[in-house]
Amino acid sequence: MRWSELVVAELAEAGVQVRLTILGGGGFRVPLVYSALLSDRGEGRITSVRLYDTDRTRLAAIGSVLRQQASGIADAPVVTETTDLDEALRGADFVFSAIRVGGLEGRTIDERVALDLGVLGQETVGAGGIAYGLRTLPVALEIATRIAALAPDAWVINFTNPAGMVTEAMIPALGDRVIGICDSPSGLGRRAALALGLDASKAFYDYAGLNHLGWLRGLHAGGVDRLPELLADPAALGAFEEGRLFGADWLRTLGSIPNEYLHYYYFARETLAAVRSVETTRGKFLLEQQSAFYAETAGQPENALALWQRTRAEREATYMVESREIADAGERDERDMAAGGYEQVALSLMRAIAHNERASLILNVRNRGTLRHLDDDAVVEVPCTVDANGARPLTVSQLTDHQAGLVSAVKAVERSTIEAAVTGSRSSALRAFAWHPLIDSVTTAGRLLDGYVAQLPTLAPFRS
Ligand code: G6P
Ligand code: MN
Repeated sequence: MRWSELVVAELAEAGVQVRLTILGGGGFRVPLVYSALLSDRGEGRITSVRLYDTDRTRLAAIGSVLRQQASGIADAPVVTETTDLDEALRGADFVFSAIRVGGLEGRTIDERVALDLGVLGQETVGAGGIAYGLRTLPVALEIATRIAALAPDAWVINFTNPAGMVTEAMIPALGDRVIGICDSPSGLGRRAALALGLDASKAFYDYAGLNHLGWLRGLHAGGVDRLPELLADPAALGAFEEGRLFGADWLRTLGSIPNEYLHYYYFARETLAAVRSVETTRGKFLLEQQSAFYAETAGQPENALALWQRTRAEREATYMVESREIADAGERDERDMAAGGYEQVALSLMRAIAHNERASLILNVRNRGTLRHLDDDAVVEVPCTVDANGARPLTVSQLTDHQAGLVSAVKAVERSTIEAAVTGSRSSALRAFAWHPLIDSVTTAGRLLDGYVAQLPTLAPFRS
């Protein structure tokens, strides 16, 4: 037995429990998180997983998948399910929040209402993201209040989208114990490092912005910033997704590599036209695919894992942000896929905290003076150092005027959305839509709000 295994065995014998609660535990991507946990053999690893969801069918299906994943693994984290939020939270050491308020049905409404009014309809960007935020924030705030009351020492990892906005809204109740995560910045950094033939784990990524609105401005390895070299090499840029998505010319002109979601801004007309030219939407596609999975699994729970794996493979084959598909950015590199997505970010974060093992990760945290264009309490997405004390932003270069302009505009939208959700004020909601850089008319902003109110019952307070 290695030393670390001895420690695990001793801790287990001593009954040291590390409990993870997953909110949105019936979600389709939960088995990815569980498989990341199964691969963690270290000391202080998660010993039990409590799944919480409002939907019993989904909860049962995912519970079956997880138990089948665990079969044959002696010390696998014990899985339990509940539909009672308070029961889910009591005694939790980590709370992973990945809920989708309104489900994929809600996502398709977010997309459709906007597209029908001639503006982008997308899960987190533009009008769709504001509608999703208005629907999600009241639930996220209630969760934050319950966590503060029942598990005040727990670390909260927020993956619930729109992640930046939701994390910022939860901070008044939870302080810096809530940390927002996303897989896209680390994915971009890794892909850029691989394109240069570098060891991605050793590089420092000078990345900054908001969630789904950031730029890689430097890639430091061995004391040298290698980004200029990458920007000057069309072949290397053509070797990874963001390079193909934005094109070598624009990247060289821009002088940085944007997060893939910035494609909706830099190529707004093209992405909108392309999204409108197809009949379905990403939300509708996933809704149909996942409804089939949950229905089938309810009928044959003994095949839950096999059904999940099949559905996942089909989803992977089409896995792409809509804009990626539109720009014909092609398939993801296999090495990149193998590196894992948000479940790896979540696991690295939990390990760094639980093991007091210093790690550097790009996370959504309070600015605290890092970016001088934003106030201290604004949640930003920047590299952080993480240990048992939580996450603290590292020093990065300042935003350029262009980056700061876009970031400030979208931060104002986020805050107006939060204000609307907290106060129920129609004016705040209307301002959020009207201020968004991808919504080009106040008249359209009003129609968007009315369109969402008409279809989403929980937005009734915003009726004119
Ligand atoms: C990435 C983003 C998430 C987003 C997801 C959408 O992982 O970081 O924030 O929710 O893509 O993927 P989907 O397969 O649901 O379209
Ligand atoms: Mn994300």
